[in-house]
Parts: sequence; C-alpha cells; structure tokens
Amino acid sequence: MPRVLVVDDETGVRESLRMLLKDDCEVVTADSADAGLRALEEMPADCVLLDLVMPGGSGLDFLAELREQADPPPVIVLTATKTVGTAVEAMKLGAADYVTKPFEVEALRQRVRQTLEHRALRREVARLTHELDERTRLGGLIGRSSAMRAVFGTIERVAVSEATVLIRGESGTGKELAARALHDLGPRANGPFVPVNCAAIPETLMESELFGHERGAFTDARERRIGKFEQATGGTLFLDEIGELAPAPQAKLLRALQERVIERVGGGQPIAVETRIVAATNRDLEEEVRQGRFREDLYYRIHVVPLELPSLRERREDIRLLAEHFLAEHVAQGRTANRFTRSALAVLERHDWPGNVRELENAVERAVTLARGDVIDTEDLPEALVRAGKVDTLREAVRGGAFPLEEAVGRFEMELIRDALVRHEWNQTRTATALGITRRQLKLKMDKYKLGERSQGED
Ligand SMILES: Nc1ncnc2c1ncn2[C@@H]1O[C@H](COP(=O)(O)OP(=O)(O)OP(=O)(O)O)[C@@H](O)[C@H]1O
Ligand SMILES: [Mg+2]
Repeated sequence: MPRVLVVDDETGVRESLRMLLKDDCEVVTADSADAGLRALEEMPADCVLLDLVMPGGSGLDFLAELREQADPPPVIVLTATKTVGTAVEAMKLGAADYVTKPFEVEALRQRVRQTLEHRALRREVARLTHELDERTRLGGLIGRSSAMRAVFGTIERVAVSEATVLIRGESGTGKELAARALHDLGPRANGPFVPVNCAAIPETLMESELFGHERGAFTDARERRIGKFEQATGGTLFLDEIGELAPAPQAKLLRALQERVIERVGGGQPIAVETRIVAATNRDLEEEVRQGRFREDLYYRIHVVPLELPSLRERREDIRLLAEHFLAEHVAQGRTANRFTRSALAVLERHDWPGNVRELENAVERAVTLARGDVIDTEDLPEALVRAGKVDTLREAVRGGAFPLEEAVGRFEMELIRDALVRHEWNQTRTATALGITRRQLKLKMDKYKLGERSQGED
C-alpha cells in the first residue's frame, strides 16, 4: 500500500484525513513541519498532505526543505480559501497540487489517488528507461537481443570473481570488448589491462614477450625487459587468439598458470603472478586439442568460465541498433548523413555478416562517406549486400507464390545477368564469357530485360 504523510497542527484534521484515506493507503501523521521532515527521514512517503499555516515552521519552509532531497514525494497543499495566494506560492516551490479547506471528501480522495498514480507511473517510466539504458550496453558492448543480454549477465556475474575466462566467438563478434568489460567491471579495474596477441608474435619471441628477460639472456637482450605477465600485475592479462600459441610457449604458459609464478628468461628468481587471466579464441579449441595442436591441460586451465559471443546473424535484432550506434558516432564527428532509409536497413538486417560487427561497422563507415545527403540508402551500401538481398527477396516471393514459375525464372535470369554486368563493369564480352553465353545472346537478353547501360541505379 502506498504511504501518505499528513502534516497538520490540528488533531481534528489529521484524524479525519486518516479516516478518509485509510482504505487507499497507509497514513502517517505529523503535527508540525519539523516532525513531518523527521517522519520522512525515517521512512519515505509516496505523497504528503501539507497544511500551509502552522505554528512553528510554515508549510513553505517544509516544501523548500523537501526540494533539496533526491526524488521527493509529491505534496498536496491544504489551504484555507482566503490564503489561496500562498497556495500559488507553494506550487512555485514544487507542490504538486492544492486543496482548499474545508475540503470536499470525494474530491480530496480523488486528488490523492491521482497524485499517487502519477508518481507510480513516473517511477515505472524511470525504471524502464533505466532498464533500456542498462540492457542495450555493457562497457563498449551494444546489443538488445536475448543472446547479448545473456552475455551481459555472464560478464557482470564473473567480472567480480578472479576466475579465468575463455571468450569464444567468430571474428569481429566483440571478444576484445568483452575482455575489457570483464576488466572494467571487476575489482582490478584500476589496474592495467594488458592485451597480448598470441597470433602476432613470432614463436621465438613469445616467451620473452610474456615473461620478460634479463639483460644478456640472449644475443639481442641488451636491456632487461619486463614481460606482459609482470606488466599486468594488479590488473588483467588478456591472451588474445590463444589458439595460435605454439607448443613451447603453451608449456611455459601452463606452468605459469599452475604454479602462479614466472621467471624472466635468463633470470633466476621466481616472480609471483598477480594478475587475472582472460583468454580469447575464434578457433574450435576442443578440435585443436583432439588434433594434438593445443595442450589439453592448458585447455582445462583456461576453460574455467566459458563466454560465448554469438555471431551477428544469430541476433539480427541487434543489427539496427548497432548500425544506428555506429552512424551516431559519425554524426558526432560532424558527418551529415544521419539516418538510414527503410530499404537500407532491410538490406543490413538481411545480410549474413560473416565478419560480424566489425564488417557492419566498416559498411556503415563506408556508407557515411558515400552518402551525399543526410540519408543513407541502399546505393551507399556495399553492392554485394544489396545484390544478395535482391535474389533472396525474389526467392522468398516465389516461395510465397507471388508470381508463377515462368515469370520467376525470368526475373532470376534478369538479376543474374545484371549482377554479372555490374561485376564486369558492363563489359559485354567479359560478362558473356562469365555467363557461358555468346555476346549476341547476352545482347538479346539485355534488350529483353531492358538492361541498358548503368541505367538501373546499380553502379
Ligand atoms: N557488441 C558490440 N557493440 C559495439 N561494437 C562492437 C560490438 N562487437 C564488436 N564491436 C566492434 O567491432 C569491432 C570488432 O570487435 P572486437 O575487436 O572486440 O572483435 P573480436 O571478436 O576480438 O574480433 P577478432 O576475432 O577478429 O579479433 C570493434 O571495432 C568493436 O568495437
Ligand atoms: Mg580480437
């Protein structure tokens, strides 16, 4: 039940209001402005009925005081008819409404109900807005699909622990962003986040990269060098593309993880490992283990908490959100294109995105550069996307019985020829060769389908 606080110095008024409202809400009373403020401190109310004229602090002081608080309850001011001017003053100080004494029972009850409802509604809106904000992004990751929300949930849950996380997902699905989110939301957020790309470092340098070396450890080691493990002390070490690690470094890494100590190359004393490990791969590590390319014991060491990032085609409901997010970033940098046409969005949502979010990000960037006005249309998108979309639509239309076979075949033929022409820059000889027909046959079909030179807005 909502809670209503009645602040009035007259016992009679307090009691009649209590009787009047007790079916709709829990009523608390106070006989002065001060007592009212204290009551609110003890337990917040959803609505306050406030007498304006009281001995001691006035109702206006109470209002002024209340305004200082975060999310104050709405106040309905009770006022004698002759002091309506003060009521206006009270409204200026933030009162939600006023009622003149002597009040009409039903009217007052109605006001209270409305005020309570309005507050509940505002809270609900605030909650939903907050939820929307929360649910569509976590760290740098954006998504509203249930798959991404599950990822957000896992990240939030495991970030607080020290557990080793193995992030998996196709290229461009946001593995690095996820690793950063794990770091930023965890207890080591103030420490360093140190990424190591295991695919980019030659095998011979890997050990020194990870563990460092002492001066003179090998021919090129002119200076002592601190490895990534040590750099990541107090923070997170991100072992990206861990599936690419060669056997020798795999063995060294396993030892470091098992014993929680490392040694610099060419250096004697062991150094304690004081870092959280997050690893990522786009390989099927189980298969790598079966093939003998990845150590099983290392696999179990890093595979403590798996975090799977879904491909973009498995969560098409995120495409629009992401596209608009990337577009907004360009707008913030002063680009003029600021929205997609409906058909452009449809093309984006239909594409399979083998390069996932990275591919989408690049497509949007390219489109922003190509767009001439303030809208991005299909012609600003990579041609392959648009073309694939057309053939798909056609196929669906035929399946849905939109037109008979003969016409469908004709349309297919036209699309295929147009594709080939575009691909060969409208060079008829090369197009004909590619299609396995003579140039004359091609010319006839172009006439049949009215495929003139670049006239179809394709190129
Ligand atoms: N959910 C997402 N929200 C916003 N941006 C994303 C999201 N996922 C990926 N990106 C962006 O896409 C690009 C690729 O992301 P990231 O580098 O994290 O992918 P990855 O999985 O590590 O790819 P790879 O396997 O190729 O290394 C980055 O520019 C990143 O900002
Ligand atoms: Mg990556």
